[in-house]
Amino acid sequence: MSGRRKAAKKQSVCEEKKMFDSAALMPHASGQNSAFQLRRHSSEVSQDADPFTFWLTGLSGAGKSTLATEFAHISNELALRHHVLDGDVMREGLCSDLGFSEADRAENIRRIAEAARLLNQAGVHAIVAVISPFRAHREAARRIIGVNRFVEIHIDTSLATCMERDPKGLYAKAHTGQLKNFTGLSAPYETPHAPDLVIRTEDHSIPECHGLLRRFALSLISRPVPSAILAA
Ligand code: ADX
Repeated sequence: MSGRRKAAKKQSVCEEKKMFDSAALMPHASGQNSAFQLRRHSSEVSQDADPFTFWLTGLSGAGKSTLATEFAHISNELALRHHVLDGDVMREGLCSDLGFSEADRAENIRRIAEAARLLNQAGVHAIVAVISPFRAHREAARRIIGVNRFVEIHIDTSLATCMERDPKGLYAKAHTGQLKNFTGLSAPYETPHAPDLVIRTEDHSIPECHGLLRRFALSLISRPVPSAILAA
């Protein structure tokens, strides 16, 4: 990369960060006692490179797994050690004995939160993509992981759009009664009151969501970006 392009890229990263810091793109970052607020208001913000758990919550079909994958790409770009914990994958292994009753969902979230906590303790950012429809369960996860680490991201897609997308044909099955306790139809989804970030997938393309997440990660992590990364 030429010196000029390198300088331009460096400036663009700085501007992205500046834009994000001005919260122009982040009207929803109003979480009380959230990791986002604690970090942003801490005088040690730029020294603290502790790992986070980025908790993506939203309806089935909202785009959580897609955006978790985008977040993993961003983490690679920023040279952050990370691991994705996806609800569908977890339910094939660690949580394969669990169903979709409220009690089973609570246990699902507890196990995933414990796994995220262990990742964070090992210095790895956890990117979690689970419906986690109950506020109480997400608060329990926040307690397990620690308020300084838990970052709640609402992947906000309307039920109508999720039903239209229906990537796995599950909404159709739920409609015909083949699937019980289906979130959004026969089981509740409790919208986060004060998430650290809201991404409305109906308003943004995937590249735009990528940009939002990237700015968010840069702003939150607030550590110097190595010049090798800027030059990449
Ligand atoms: S959670 O409610 O316990 O957080 P989780 O994210 O682990 O759910 O798993 C959700 C996935 O399970 C969905 O993406 C979907 O593929 C599948 N699924 C099967 N049955 C249901 C159901 N009744 N409600 C929601 N998701 C279901």
